[in-house]
Amino acid sequence: MKSTAEIIEKQISQWEGDDSMEDFIGNSQKFVKLMSYYKCAIMEVETKFKVLSEEYSHYHDRNPINNIQSRIKHPYSIMDKMEKKEYPKSLESIEENLDDIAGVRVICSFPTDVYTLAEAFLKQDDITLIRKKDYIANPKSNGYRSLHLIVSIPIFLSEGKRQMKVEVQLRSIAMDFWASLEHQMKYKKDHYFTKEMEEELYQCAKISAALDERMDRLRISSMGERSRREKTIIE
Ligand code: GTP
Ligand code: MG
Repeated sequence: MKSTAEIIEKQISQWEGDDSMEDFIGNSQKFVKLMSYYKCAIMEVETKFKVLSEEYSHYHDRNPINNIQSRIKHPYSIMDKMEKKEYPKSLESIEENLDDIAGVRVICSFPTDVYTLAEAFLKQDDITLIRKKDYIANPKSNGYRSLHLIVSIPIFLSEGKRQMKVEVQLRSIAMDFWASLEHQMKYKKDHYFTKEMEEELYQCAKISAALDERMDRLRISSMGERSRREKTIIE
């Protein structure tokens, strides 16, 4: 398996000759090192969610996490964002200004799992919440739903502790289904969205939210039914 450093070095090399990239990345060894620190932070966050999931499935007999995905922002996207936002081009400025270099997406079974996991994660004493956006309680105008957390987490290196920022997105399977397909359609260069299509997409988001609610009610009912049956057997 390729190391993070190898992957980042290959990504940088694809833009060799691009002056703006070279100016920006400056000392590529330092850039690669910084990216590998973000990778370490991703590993820490993933482990925390895996531990919570393990504990939860032990007590509740079901898995609250369907899937965990993670990614490090591509050097080219980093450069793009720094240019668009007119941030100074330096490694310090990347760390200071960008919150989404390290991204972890936790796809939960039910919407209630999103809040249970987020609460248990944020309670941990090495996690500092920098910003929270609750697009589940307050969906975006296009219908997008997810819980976004920007956190700071320590990584422990041979030379000591270092705080790193990670963007954590928590969403249910239904929220992920909508967001993934919307992303695929919206960001394809050969796709164009009319106002009517936007409205249709918004209606799909509403159906997905209603489905989430119905599935959650079913889950709660099935728990009630199980405890009723267990009680009958004991009596
Ligand atoms: P960025 O500058 O794009 O990172 O946005 P932001 O700083 O305003 O953050 P926000 O929390 O709104 O969005 C961050 C990330 O959430 C995006 O990079 C996407 O991964 C996801 N996201 C936000 N809005 C949408 C949306 O409408 N559709 C989809 N599919 N994903 C979204
Ligand atoms: Mg982003």
